[in-house]
Amino acid sequence: MAADGKWTKEDINDLTGKVVIVTGANSGIGYETARALAGAGAETVLACRNLEKGRQAAEQIRMEDPPGTVRLMPLDLADLASACSFSELFKERYDRLDILINNAGVMALAERLETADGFEMQFGTNHLGHFALTGLLIERIKDTQGARVVNVSSVAEMIGRINFDDLNARKSYNRWSAYGQSKIANLLFTYELQRRFEASGLDAISAATHPGWTATNLQSHSAFLRACNPVIGQGSETGALPTLYAATAEVVEGGAYYGPGGFMQARGYPKRVESNIRSHDRDVAARLWDISERLTGVRFLSNFGNGRT
Ligand SMILES: NC(=O)c1ccc[n+]([C@@H]2O[C@H](COP(=O)([O-])OP(=O)(O)OC[C@H]3O[C@@H](n4cnc5c(N)ncnc54)[C@H](OP(=O)(O)O)[C@@H]3O)[C@@H](O)[C@H]2O)c1
Repeated sequence: MAADGKWTKEDINDLTGKVVIVTGANSGIGYETARALAGAGAETVLACRNLEKGRQAAEQIRMEDPPGTVRLMPLDLADLASACSFSELFKERYDRLDILINNAGVMALAERLETADGFEMQFGTNHLGHFALTGLLIERIKDTQGARVVNVSSVAEMIGRINFDDLNARKSYNRWSAYGQSKIANLLFTYELQRRFEASGLDAISAATHPGWTATNLQSHSAFLRACNPVIGQGSETGALPTLYAATAEVVEGGAYYGPGGFMQARGYPKRVESNIRSHDRDVAARLWDISERLTGVRFLSNFGNGRT
């Protein structure tokens, strides 16, 4: 790390021989994350729902001639069948998975939309899609020493509550409550996954991050948020730093949360941060895990086995 504690992508160790997946890698934070990981030598899989945008992103990264190979694979997290096809293809091609970055997301959609499987779009994409993807890839995670799963949450977790009576907002929909629920779900999943890694003796890390306020396409649906972007928002390259830190820095601990260290955690260099007390509720985490398994049909326990012993 730089002597002044300002960790940047230049501090990433050589990732030659490592395989990483970044969801939503064609845009914003996911793009910069993939670019930096390929730049450090990792075989980098861009998991994107829009193949045209994915191709452009892959080409742009390849034009910089990074040491790591860049591959594009189709993944729509709002469709469980797509998560299954992605993981099948990935497992055919790769026998290891060093870093899974669950980054893709949608925010505060004006209207209630549903995924292909009938889940509210933000809960379905941001949480259930990534929950299912991680479960479907768990064999590879298990077989890779020191593997990491990084879930990208948000400061919106602070307003987040899991509404077990109406998880998919069928009775009533509020765009920010739905986003907040999906982002606290990312944290509950992160912490529970770490507990389960430890309980089954797996040499793997589950960590969470947030990018502060980063000017990306995420704010594109709101004129107000777009107007705030040039004033408050940091660039995607800096916004990707907490994710890159959680994915690669040696000091990172399982079950920890990382975000920008500047004013109000809106911007700056990565540091360890705290999430709200509700995100650490073990009963809520276990209940959410069970429901997520039931809703997605993806079960982790049988795949965990006895770890690597
Ligand atoms: N920007 C911020 O200030 C901020 C703050 C807190 C948290 N975050 C989190 O950071 C993450 C990245 O967001 P961003 O700011 O980089 O926004 P972004 O530029 O809009 O990128 C989001 C990415 O997710 C992809 N995506 C959306 N739905 C998907 C689906 N169903 N299947 C596969 N991919 C899908 C998008 O694909 P398309 O290009 O095809 O739409 C895009 O590649 C999100 O989880 C977000 O919640 C961002």
